[in-house]
Formats: sequence, structure tokens, C-alpha cells
Amino acid sequence: MTATTSSNPVLTAEQCQQIDHWLAKFPETPEGRQSAVIPSLHIVQDANGGYLERRHVEAVADYIGMSRTTAFEVATFYSMFHLDHPVGRHKVSICTNICCWLNGAEDLVRYAEEKLGARLGETTEDGRITLVREEECLAACTGAPMLIVDGHYHTHLTREKIDEIFDALQ
Ligand code: FES
Repeated sequence: MTATTSSNPVLTAEQCQQIDHWLAKFPETPEGRQSAVIPSLHIVQDANGGYLERRHVEAVADYIGMSRTTAFEVATFYSMFHLDHPVGRHKVSICTNICCWLNGAEDLVRYAEEKLGARLGETTEDGRITLVREEECLAACTGAPMLIVDGHYHTHLTREKIDEIFDALQ
């Protein structure tokens, strides 16, 4: 048994297939199935223009057979999931934790906000970039200060580097 149901009212058949692919990697126990929640939320988020509506989180929980509350705990804990509000075509997360902060992250956040005309947590008017509200350490302290764009790491940031990175995003 891998798939829970083929008639989930929110998930498409293709999304269910992709989730089944992940379910097959874990033990066929309730706890094992829960292990597929993060990739499953990613699948649905990617298919929904980069953010999740509540019905998506509920649908994923129902499909893999875990409590909706636990699925919401996961979706709200990780900054890689974006709930309830549409996001830009690109998501930029600037780390402001201790190593990055000591190396000038605060100044770079201000610079990024001015350059984009959007504050942390906001999306540029043209829908190009969302500045993710807050990031904890992204495990690249040796490259501080750093940011992530759509999952790709950029380290040893300067204002000039931020110009290059942002200007390349369409
Ligand atoms: S503090 Fe920024 S990556 Fe660790």
C-alpha cells in the first residue's frame, strides 16, 4: 500500500503520483508515511505558484494519513514554506543570524529593501522577487554574509554582489 486515495479533491493526479514516489521511500507505517510530508508540501507549493493555501496543507495531511494539525506545524515551522499569500517569481532569503549579522547582514538587508522597494516579507510590485521575512542560520556561516535565491546559495555578499544577483532575476 502506497497511495492513500486517488480521489483527493485538491491534489491533482500528477501531484498524487509524485507524493506516492516519496511515500515509497519510507516504511509503510503511519510514522513512516509522515516522513513524506516535507517533499509533499514542496510538490504542492511548487505547483501552486510558490505558496500554500490552507486547503493544500490539509489535502497533503489527508493524503499521506497524518493529522492536519501536525502538517500545519511543519508548514508553519519551516521558512521554506509560504502560507496564505502569493509570492514573487523568485524567493530571496537573507540570513541575519549571528555570523551573517556580525559580517554586515543588517546593512545588506537595508540595501536589498531599498533596491527592491520592498521590505522583508513583501514582494516587489512587478511580482519578481519576494524578500522572505526572516531567516535563521542557513548553515553556510563560513560564507557569511549569505543569502539563498530559490534554493541556491550565494555567499560572501557585498552590495555589488547583491546588485548582480538581483539584476539577473527576471
Ligand atoms: S549565520 Fe548565516 S549562514 Fe549561519
